[in-house]
Amino acid sequence: MESFPRIDFFELHDLDGTPPVLRTLHTESIMTIYRLTDAAREYARPLALALRSGANHRIVDLCAGSGGPVPLIQRRLHAQGVHTQVTLTDLVPNVPAFERAAARNRRRLPDPCCSVDHVPTPVDATDCRLEGTRTIYGAFHHFPPALATRMLQNAVDTRQPMVVVDTKRSWLYVLVFPFFLTLAVLLAAPFQRNPLPRYLLRLALTYVVPVLPFMMFFDSVVSFLRMYGRAELRRIVDGLDGTESFEWTIGVEPGFTGAQYLIGIPRRE
Ligand SMILES: C[S@@+](CC[C@H](N)C(=O)[O-])C[C@H]1O[C@@H](n2cnc3c(N)ncnc32)[C@H](O)[C@@H]1O
Repeated sequence: MESFPRIDFFELHDLDGTPPVLRTLHTESIMTIYRLTDAAREYARPLALALRSGANHRIVDLCAGSGGPVPLIQRRLHAQGVHTQVTLTDLVPNVPAFERAAARNRRRLPDPCCSVDHVPTPVDATDCRLEGTRTIYGAFHHFPPALATRMLQNAVDTRQPMVVVDTKRSWLYVLVFPFFLTLAVLLAAPFQRNPLPRYLLRLALTYVVPVLPFMMFFDSVVSFLRMYGRAELRRIVDGLDGTESFEWTIGVEPGFTGAQYLIGIPRRE
């Protein structure tokens, strides 16, 4: 089990005072890291498992940031003959990034069996009304226990399947991954596709005043310290009203991402 207790602290990109452009540049860096690594391969497995267990192939991705891994996962699933329709949502939707993710998948998957669209207005993950399998990748740790509970309760109340994927809590991730992620921000900045003014701003905030590498380092240390453990996920799930109307599965995927998942599927009535 986890070798240290969950430590809740703030992440810089979550602060109300953080300029939106910084938040966008940060979540776009996360998106680039997904594209440069093979993380989507491991991240695809919990969703594939949920779909095999009867979850709706219409996916509502919560907290999608600048697109997140779900469009990449859609391509992987398509290669396995599994077709999905994805809707990207966020409390602060990055519409241009969502449109870019959709355009990329249209080019790669011209087959109309799969699609990516988005909700251009804020969608609160703890109070979602959209129908479909809810996914939340790399963001569940942002929610303290009361809000995490509210998010899962909302899925149970609306009888929508839920797939939570985050990293398992371990010193390995706290002590090693922030260095890799920060290095990725430093190396990838010149290759990041952005409109020219944002591209120049990214270079300035990476190499002249290194705000973006610092933000990645700080936020990833905090993220890995506040990941939920399996016992904590189990306690949250056990405390939900109507939890017995769902089948819950908690597990960890083997591999470098340490992807830990919680899958909830409504039982047939
Ligand atoms: C780490 S970032 C991006 C995570 C994204 N899934 C990814 O893997 O790139 C977390 C995102 O959660 C969003 N967020 C925070 N609180 C939220 C809430 N209550 N409802 C919906 N989105 C929220 C933020 O706006 C931010 O884009």
